[in-house]
Amino acid sequence: MVCGIVGYVGERSALDVIVDGLKRLEYRGYDSGGVAVVADGALASVKRAGKLANLEKALAEYPLPAATTGLGHTRWATHGAPNDRNAHPHLDALGQVAVIHNGIIENFASLRAELEDSGVTFASDTDTEVVAHLLAAEVAAGTDLADAMRAVCRRLDGAFTLVAVHAATPGRVVAARLNSPLVVGLGDGETFVASDVTAFIAHTREALEMSDGQVVEITAEGATLTDFDGAPVPEKRYHVDWDVAAAEKDGYDYFMLKEIAEQPRAVADTLLGRVNDAGEVKLDEMRLSDEELREVDKIIIIAAGTSYYAGLVAKYAIEHWTRIPCEVELASEFRYRDPIVTQRTLVVVISQSGETMDTLMALRHAREQGARVLAICNTNGATIPRESDAVLYTRAGIEVAVASTKAFLTQIVACYLVALYLAQVRGTKWGDEVVTVLGDLAAMPDAIASVLDEMEPVRELARSMASATSVLFLGRHVGYPVALEGALKLKEIAYMHAEGFAAGELKHGPIALIEDGIPVFVVVPSPRGRSVLHDKIVSNIQEVRARGARTIVIAEEGDETVVPYASHVIRVPVCPTLMQPLVAVVPLQVFACEMASSRGFDVDQPRNLAKSVTVE
Ligand code: G6P
Repeated sequence: MVCGIVGYVGERSALDVIVDGLKRLEYRGYDSGGVAVVADGALASVKRAGKLANLEKALAEYPLPAATTGLGHTRWATHGAPNDRNAHPHLDALGQVAVIHNGIIENFASLRAELEDSGVTFASDTDTEVVAHLLAAEVAAGTDLADAMRAVCRRLDGAFTLVAVHAATPGRVVAARLNSPLVVGLGDGETFVASDVTAFIAHTREALEMSDGQVVEITAEGATLTDFDGAPVPEKRYHVDWDVAAAEKDGYDYFMLKEIAEQPRAVADTLLGRVNDAGEVKLDEMRLSDEELREVDKIIIIAAGTSYYAGLVAKYAIEHWTRIPCEVELASEFRYRDPIVTQRTLVVVISQSGETMDTLMALRHAREQGARVLAICNTNGATIPRESDAVLYTRAGIEVAVASTKAFLTQIVACYLVALYLAQVRGTKWGDEVVTVLGDLAAMPDAIASVLDEMEPVRELARSMASATSVLFLGRHVGYPVALEGALKLKEIAYMHAEGFAAGELKHGPIALIEDGIPVFVVVPSPRGRSVLHDKIVSNIQEVRARGARTIVIAEEGDETVVPYASHVIRVPVCPTLMQPLVAVVPLQVFACEMASSRGFDVDQPRNLAKSVTVE
């Protein structure tokens, strides 16, 4: 589950703060929303299936009493359909406790049976509701709400963020986390808990990090942290270095468009300060010694979704520059195949959010096997970097659209920096070669910007194809993962059947799909250096074209050989083969975005998908 969570205690209208916070968390993806406030010794709650607008409408019809303590939730359904009754908050039978939850309580069935045996009637199909009843029973027996939360947490298996309020204790919100995100915001006379800082960034940039297995009690004055047994834990405060403007659309119609446009800046930021005056890569935050890196005999990249495709691109560079064998594995598959991992294996986990449960579980498995784990992540202080031996932040800035764009580019660049660093430490590349590649990387922000300047024809193309039923993508070498990513983007937001193939595989099956008028994108490698590859893909274009495909060819400036076989040519600047994905994927992102909007879909929040998937 990737629900959005907000809890508030302060002097302002809790409802206003909470609804605003939930709106800022909308990007996480959700299917229902709800709020509860504590006023005059009672709880008042409203919840609705669908978008927050439904909740706001209900709140206008049934106004809640004025209150300064409350909590709110956007739900992404796991246990129980996305309807009003399964929406959070969940209350106990007497309406004394309200609770919201992100994650999955794995032992909920036995807890529910136990509660039902004792006469409790359930009002929903959720795993969450057991917590409301368990908390209420503890409090009814005289236990303080925070102690009750600790006692209940000790009984729960699974992953959860929980936030609760009690009718008899206005001015207090209690929250807990285990394997699910939660941060505390420290304002002036007001305190927040939330899934991430976006929810309270408009009010405060001072935050408190929470680790797994902790409970926090917030009041208007501040926060008290303990572990699940009640022992105090040290506070880790930090200052959020971006502001509310960064979390807004900045004049673009969609976050996705804004984030596509931000790619030159994002790539530049990934490189910033990571090359010293001598032209060497310096990764101070690596926390892995040169000795450890020299011992590495295998690299395994683990990730999910778009991050996985960034890993597939990185493999080509890593093996080429370092000569270390590199595997790329889907996070959800990794630990189930008994992978061969030793102390000399460097596991690189790539995750934009740093919270993807599949990736986190794979990371933990790798560490248990003794591997060293390096995280490439975009979210400071997220669980994945915290649990890794080393971290390289991509610095793409917050990515709000569910479909990942700038994170993808910066993940590739971050992987390349790691590869160059390894090559430097292990001496598999001469210093001047490293300098040359770093120069190529430094030129990429301008190259990406020049592609972005020429995107109107791509948008027109998308509009002209809005009624297509299927789109294919072909590539070879690093163009192959680019093709996969192009297809994924289209599936994610335009809900179209789309497939990416290695162009050489065409003859082994996919060519049977080619029929009159089917759009086929082809990512063409540079004719320079990789001429054999280039010639082969030109033949592939001819093959599909001869069978009636509408060929959309992404090719380097000046490559005229493709023109006779292309229905449309999209030009990308001349750059070294390994850099080409950074420019070639951009038209595919723009194409998907325009396709989704011309088909009338919600570009930023596609159906069934979520930005950060915190379940396995
Ligand atoms: C979800 C998102 C994808 C993303 C994937 C991995 O499925 O919808 O856009 O690529 O998770 O996310 P991560 O945060 O680990 O990179």
